[in-house]
Amino acid sequence: MNAATTPAVQPARRAQLLLDTAWPGNSDSPRITAIAPGRVNLIGEHTDYSGGFVLPMAIDLACAAALRIRNTAKVSRVAIEESDLRAEFELDRLLAPGGELPAGVVLGKGDWRSYVVGVIALLGRRARHDGKPLCGFDLAIAGDVPVGGGLSSSAALEVSVASAVAAAWNVHLDLPKLAALCRQAEHEFAGVPCGIMDQFISALGREGHALLLDCRTLEHHHVPMPAAEHATVVVFNSNVSHSLASGEYARRREACQRAAAVLGVGELRDATPQMVASNSALVSQPALFRAARHVVTENARTIAAAAALERGDLTELGRLMNASHDSLRDDYRVSCPELDTLVEAGRGLGGVFGARMTGGGFGGCAVMLVRSASVDSVIADVKHAYRARHGLDATAFPVRASGGATVLRTAG
Ligand code: GLA
Repeated sequence: MNAATTPAVQPARRAQLLLDTAWPGNSDSPRITAIAPGRVNLIGEHTDYSGGFVLPMAIDLACAAALRIRNTAKVSRVAIEESDLRAEFELDRLLAPGGELPAGVVLGKGDWRSYVVGVIALLGRRARHDGKPLCGFDLAIAGDVPVGGGLSSSAALEVSVASAVAAAWNVHLDLPKLAALCRQAEHEFAGVPCGIMDQFISALGREGHALLLDCRTLEHHHVPMPAAEHATVVVFNSNVSHSLASGEYARRREACQRAAAVLGVGELRDATPQMVASNSALVSQPALFRAARHVVTENARTIAAAAALERGDLTELGRLMNASHDSLRDDYRVSCPELDTLVEAGRGLGGVFGARMTGGGFGGCAVMLVRSASVDSVIADVKHAYRARHGLDATAFPVRASGGATVLRTAG
């Protein structure tokens, strides 16, 4: 499906349809539908968990969660499109000390239900703490963010579910707090020690804008994207999948903490390129030194990239995107041959301002900033080069900067 022609309402309609077909007996109470987008990160990769800077944008691929309250029943039920797995649970048991998980749900194994149950459990604890009465519900989920593609399908899932359930329970959380709760669910229930970037942009994206986020203070600033007739963001999915939970992500995170300790700072956010280059204890530990050099230079590139975008200097933005990829490939070592092929193929073409891997790495997607008139030829040429080199088809889609999470209420 061409993402450029996929409005975010489509997953919403599919979730609503699933809600009505999965449990046809429950159609009297009003329906709440929440939609939350995936994201592509333009620059600022592997910096969020060191308190650094990121520049993602929400995209026009999303996850939707449609919910109806069950006024009398104790049991809540959850279903997702294209899976026979469902979850059924009593809130009282889920929220009891030691929390009883729904049958079949195992934490930390990539099961979508662990993300959903985590968000519901954390919201439920908060609602109880605030003295809100909790009701059971039916919840149906549908989405079109590719799973495992590095476009934050899990954050879109968490933020859509959290938004729908918070609306049903009248829990009022501001969007940064909602994003933080979703990240906590990902840490505690899905076992992925991610940073705040993905949940934050899914909750707070703005149409036509990227978002410069300070991941320590959560100060943020929406930066206008170039006009559609001028430049387009194109995502190439390598269709090689990676798993953040697989250990490399956690290892990188730990390397950053150790490097910060050697430098005597709380987080790498507090270090400068000069401090990293001149610390002999760090320089003598090559893996830590390279990790630190990536993070401190990437923070500087991200701030410079936001300024370049602000003044419309796409050549400079593209140059910084290219440098980001090189640093992720050579210093942070989270790229892979497939992503390098996509990036190199793009960079060799006229009309491409810049190209880099995006997301956690080890597969997933590359992102390119492309002159709009060249989008079709760039897509054709990059796909051709990728197939020739790896015998695989890349999926390519232009994306638009989209709004963050929204909630709709409909009667009956
Ligand atoms: C994943 C994580 C984010 C971030 C990126 C890398 O998407 O969920 O928090 O760390 O990897 O920039």
